[in-house]
Amino acid sequence: MKKAIFYFFSLLFLFDVSAQQAIKISSPNGDLRLKVMDFKGKTTYMLTKNNDTIVDYSSLGLTLKNDSFENLELIKADKRSCDEIWEQVWGEERFARNNYNELALTYQEKEADKRIIKIVFRVFDDGFAFRYEFPEQSNLKHFVILSEDSEITLPTSLSNSTIWSQKANGTLHYEAFYLPKPILTKDTINPPATIVTTKNLHLCISEAAVWDYPATNYTVSCANNKVTFKTNLYPWRNGDAVRVDCPSQSPWRSMIIADNAEKLLLSRLNLNLNEPCALKDVSWIKPSKYVGIWWGMHKRDYSWGSGPNHGATTERTKKYIDFAAQNNISAVLVEGWNIGWDEDWGIHGDRFDFIQAYPDYDLQEVCRYGKEKGVRIIAHLETGGAARNLERQMDSAFALYKSLGINTIKTGYVNMWNDDEYQHSQKAINHYNLVVKTAAKYNLMVVAHEAALPSGIRRTYPNIIGTECMRGQEYNSWDNIGNTPNHTCTLPFTRGLTGPMDFTPGIFNFENKIQPQTHPHTTIAKQLSEYLVLYSPAPMAADMIENYEANMRVFEFIKQVPCAWDSTVVPHAEVGRYVTIARKEKNTNNWYVGSMTDETPRDLDLELSFLDKGKQYTATIYEDGEGADYRTNPYPVNIRKIVVGSKDTIKLKLAPSGGAAISIVEIK
Ligand code: NOJ
Repeated sequence: MKKAIFYFFSLLFLFDVSAQQAIKISSPNGDLRLKVMDFKGKTTYMLTKNNDTIVDYSSLGLTLKNDSFENLELIKADKRSCDEIWEQVWGEERFARNNYNELALTYQEKEADKRIIKIVFRVFDDGFAFRYEFPEQSNLKHFVILSEDSEITLPTSLSNSTIWSQKANGTLHYEAFYLPKPILTKDTINPPATIVTTKNLHLCISEAAVWDYPATNYTVSCANNKVTFKTNLYPWRNGDAVRVDCPSQSPWRSMIIADNAEKLLLSRLNLNLNEPCALKDVSWIKPSKYVGIWWGMHKRDYSWGSGPNHGATTERTKKYIDFAAQNNISAVLVEGWNIGWDEDWGIHGDRFDFIQAYPDYDLQEVCRYGKEKGVRIIAHLETGGAARNLERQMDSAFALYKSLGINTIKTGYVNMWNDDEYQHSQKAINHYNLVVKTAAKYNLMVVAHEAALPSGIRRTYPNIIGTECMRGQEYNSWDNIGNTPNHTCTLPFTRGLTGPMDFTPGIFNFENKIQPQTHPHTTIAKQLSEYLVLYSPAPMAADMIENYEANMRVFEFIKQVPCAWDSTVVPHAEVGRYVTIARKEKNTNNWYVGSMTDETPRDLDLELSFLDKGKQYTATIYEDGEGADYRTNPYPVNIRKIVVGSKDTIKLKLAPSGGAAISIVEIK
């Protein structure tokens, strides 16, 4: 690291492959071809699909602080292939196929310290990815990256495409709408960004396997009818982007490339880019539905803090446990159970105590009662953004939860990340990942709100069973705009491609005493469809139990719907407009289908060709009833039963912002 002292300003580091020919690799089926070459002195790559350019010349590089890798020469270009089928602990399907060709380029400084860095490309049939690797070596222990200068440039032939994206810095927690825009729009956006071309190709730019590195956003610039996405890292407050300790690596910069919207939803590229499961015993990780003392707080019928309307009382929790036990629901989330909610959260918001309960909430007793009824408690840990406060208490609190039979925590980071550093900085990412790893030691599953955007690390740590990082249902209780009808029709094609969503579906009663103008912008049947369309292995039945008790006829679907799946198919899909998803329940021959539309009413033919040939099934269809309309009358749900087989078609009639949910159970 001698050079460091000689350079006051950071210097650009460029890969010099000028002496080399372009190096090529293609996808296993040969359709995607990637080549890496020197272009105007920079290491540059491009990609074609069946000879059409998808990614035009795009350059790579890193800007270091007080240092630069200079005079790098390519000393090795290794190729290898992988074709593996791996079993998911939980997922949209039981088995995932990970099939790619890899090109690993090793660069070394010609003189001086002979430091080494690598750049690795993987090309799959459904997209590609690359990352930088910083191997262990005696002359390079640590360094600081000021910016990662990776680019993805789309060619002029794609300049009429549409992009669905979310403004970076629009909100702190990825809780903005994904809005469609012409691709040639200057912007700063968060991943994922979904692009639909005039030839109906569906692309998604994102990142995978974010470990010890900040999250990214992209500066989108346009020149000569081309659009370039440049990686922009959320920095430390002093301007450092990444403090690298070797060995280490950047996340994968990835692009899914699918022929249509249906195939986009079936891509597992970002998951496959992660390392295999790091946990030996995963028997304690179980998909499960939950109810919770939650919606009442968002509608302000109850309070999180103490007082006459305190939500989290022992008595109410027992009622929720009873309801769960009677209705095939395995867990109860309790928010506002612990000391801290009444205090001024303070600059460092560190008033939350993750062990001490309010006097009207007997933690031991509710856990004992839950155990008796076969229902687990989900402990809510709102940090107020004070991550260090959670880190200080984590081991003792998690040990207590384990001893009480609690198997899931829900973390939250409302407010600015106020522990000195920014919300999506390297420090913040390391905190979120540390919570997941520590939770695993205590056999705790994690549902994380306002945390890191999923990047497929669930493959490695399958105890991270849910993440928010989107505008969830809660906006329908206190935000006057709420979630627009097309929002849930957009999520699967955008945020959903990064990992499970703790959207909290299933609101049945749309009245709000305190803010009467707010309500879900859906019909009830569409609320049901969210259990299939918005994938989560731990879906919440989000309404208050009294609203379910008043409508058990419709609640029957939520009671029945599984959350562990063998496979998934996508009968209909158009980004932002409508989507139908069918999933086969794990270890049975039963299927469940959810279909939803934006504000446009829609008739869809659901062909049942995914069913086993020759078998008969009872389909129970929960559909928008007479006059259902999200604006005027969200409530009518018609329920009908028919016998079906694989040659049949079910006609779906979706109301404005309506939906349908169907259970298809094998007749034995
Ligand atoms: C925001 C979370 O998204 C929500 O689920 C939670 O109830 C509140 N924060 C309070 O922690």
